[in-house]
Amino acid sequence: MNIDQSLIEKLINARSIVFFTGAGISAESGIPTFRGKDGIWNKLKPEELANFGAFMKNPDMVWEWYNHRKKIIHESQPNQGHITIAELQNFFDVTVVTQNIDNLHRRAGSKKIFELHGNIERNYCAECKKFYNEELDFSSGVPKCFCGGLIRPDVVWFGEFLPEAQFEGGEKAAKNSDIFFIVGTSAVVYPAAGLVSTAKQSGATLVEINIGETEISSSADYSFFGKAGSVLPKILHEYKSSVKQ
Ligand code: APR
Repeated sequence: MNIDQSLIEKLINARSIVFFTGAGISAESGIPTFRGKDGIWNKLKPEELANFGAFMKNPDMVWEWYNHRKKIIHESQPNQGHITIAELQNFFDVTVVTQNIDNLHRRAGSKKIFELHGNIERNYCAECKKFYNEELDFSSGVPKCFCGGLIRPDVVWFGEFLPEAQFEGGEKAAKNSDIFFIVGTSAVVYPAAGLVSTAKQSGATLVEINIGETEISSSADYSFFGKAGSVLPKILHEYKSSVKQ
């Protein structure tokens, strides 16, 4: 895969870059994506697992599923995609705006991260919102808060608002970005996907990295159709060899 020299030129002149990421960047770490051929939502119903009503109706089932996902995430490692983004912090003001709840960007060493859909490592009481980030005890069923409320994972379910500070941080980063990378997302879930046009309208160069075409391919300035874990290291390599010259 060829990396356009004009993109490298833009990188050489860039100060702040944003990585807007989705489930695809964690696919090579063994974490299934949601849509596409082997997507989770082909087998399971988001309306039964990823919304508040379903949780209140059947908290055991919803927790069983999140504990299953947590196990997969704990058994996985950041891949070259996550690692390259962290390494780029040595050259640029890098902001990660992610839809992923898997904490892999943080584990790879990224510092400035906005988590639009929460983080599976955190939990809070559905009633009083008190946080419980320690390992939860499920020996007597779904754990409860001191107030009696059910404890839920700190993830954003369908129909719920995004955490305001995280979304505002992502929006500000998109508006200030020179280059806005869109990595491993189908860009169909809003308001997160709206950050793409926010960045475009603010004059950022849009660079898409995905194994296939998506909703935003037509508005991207550059599209690299390949795995994030191979394309991102290539871009970094090209950049490094260019700045050396
Ligand atoms: N490298 C790059 N892209 C990849 C790779 C890879 N190795 N593997 C898959 N992809 C692409 C797919 O082609 C697809 O476009 O990643 C995208 C994953 O899209 P989705 O499964 O829809 O995931 P995402 O966009 O993150 O979903 C958004 O939806 O279900 C909710 O809350 C959940 O945050 C999630 C949101």
